[in-house]
Amino acid sequence: MIFVTGGAGFIGSNFVLDWLEQSDEPVLNLDKLTYAGNLDNLTSLNNDQRHIFVKGDIGDFELVRRLLAEYKPRAILNFAAESHVDRSIHGPEDFIQTNVVGTFHLLEAVRAYWTVLEGDAKADFRFLHVSTDEVYGSLEKEAPPFNEHNRYEPNSPYSASKAASDHLVRAYHHTYGLPVLTTNCSNNYGPYHFPEKLIPLVIHNALNGKPLPIYGDGQQIRDWLFVKDHCTAIRRVLVEGELGETYNVGGWNEKPNIEVVNTICAILDELKPMADGRSYKNQITYVKDRPGHDRRYAIDATKLEKELGWKPAETFESGIRKTVQWYLDNASWVENITSGQYRQWVEKQYQ
Ligand code: NAD
Ligand code: DAU
Repeated sequence: MIFVTGGAGFIGSNFVLDWLEQSDEPVLNLDKLTYAGNLDNLTSLNNDQRHIFVKGDIGDFELVRRLLAEYKPRAILNFAAESHVDRSIHGPEDFIQTNVVGTFHLLEAVRAYWTVLEGDAKADFRFLHVSTDEVYGSLEKEAPPFNEHNRYEPNSPYSASKAASDHLVRAYHHTYGLPVLTTNCSNNYGPYHFPEKLIPLVIHNALNGKPLPIYGDGQQIRDWLFVKDHCTAIRRVLVEGELGETYNVGGWNEKPNIEVVNTICAILDELKPMADGRSYKNQITYVKDRPGHDRRYAIDATKLEKELGWKPAETFESGIRKTVQWYLDNASWVENITSGQYRQWVEKQYQ
């Protein structure tokens, strides 16, 4: 079996669903169920013996050690993290705790397990660490996209904590020989995306007649990848990735934020037109910028494409349409999570 951490979050749950769609190999899923973890993402697996869910912390060495001893996974994929940049600005501590200290404890438990494995079980074991392009910092407008040789220059507490975890993973390979792989991916979007992030927030606010908040001038650029394509890339790296290597994952879809928001509004105008015929674009509102806001991210995914033969299946146009349709079809999923705690966050962030 494989062992996934953070499998109740956005990308982790998409990965677990995708994995079990394609294979009968069971998944052990360890998730702390923070505000971002949501078992509603996995209801389709409720009676599925192939999915074993455990509520717990990657930083709990004893728990992870016990799970590894009991289930003997052949690989561990680490998705668990605090992931929202704005939250890391309001309160960095949880980010250090989970992304740095938690990853360290996880690595220690995995090292203890792997060290005493023998033969093929030891040779075939993999620790795949899921990371972000934000560790590379911000690109100038005309600079080439990030490749695996770019310097780490993280600018937010979130990206600094992810950078630290990447370094720990690298060090465990270099020092102890732990068979690690790291992926650094650009911005994901798709089903089960928590509505604190730009795309689901804009869809949710548009449908509820609320302002669509654009930070600063809205000209910041992100490189968008449909989440299912990220899952495919991770599977490919797990099978064929070279030990100790890092792989950049991206969709070749650089877009300024304002363009992304305009596109969402245009799709909503078509799929769910407002009664008075006005466009959702009228709800766009420019707000105070994010402190230290990175201007541009872009990924050069040539290594993954050339060496492992991966290519994204979705264009931004096809992926964003699927995403908007998914949110229209799954209004109750959004309602269930936009409860008291969520409202408190929105009030604090957009006051
Ligand atoms: P998310 O915030 O939606 O989900 C994170 C999950 O981890 C949640 O289910 C949460 O409950 C769980 N978790 C948090 N702390 C934990 C802990 N201490 N122990 C166990 N579980 C814990 O995040 P996401 O967007 O799905 O991101 C997943 C991973 O991918 C993260 O490592 C993130 O840095 C990385 N990543 C995200 C993106 C993106 O665009 N969302 C892009 C590139 C990389
Ligand atoms: O690049 C990968 C990263 O992408 C991941 O590592 C992070 O976990 C993930 O959250 C994401 O980070 P971003 O900060 O790029 O995503 P977010 O959706 O928060 O913001 C996208 C862009 O939109 C960014 O430039 C900030 C802007 N924005 C965001 C929000 C929430 C707005 O203009 N208004 C908003 O209300």
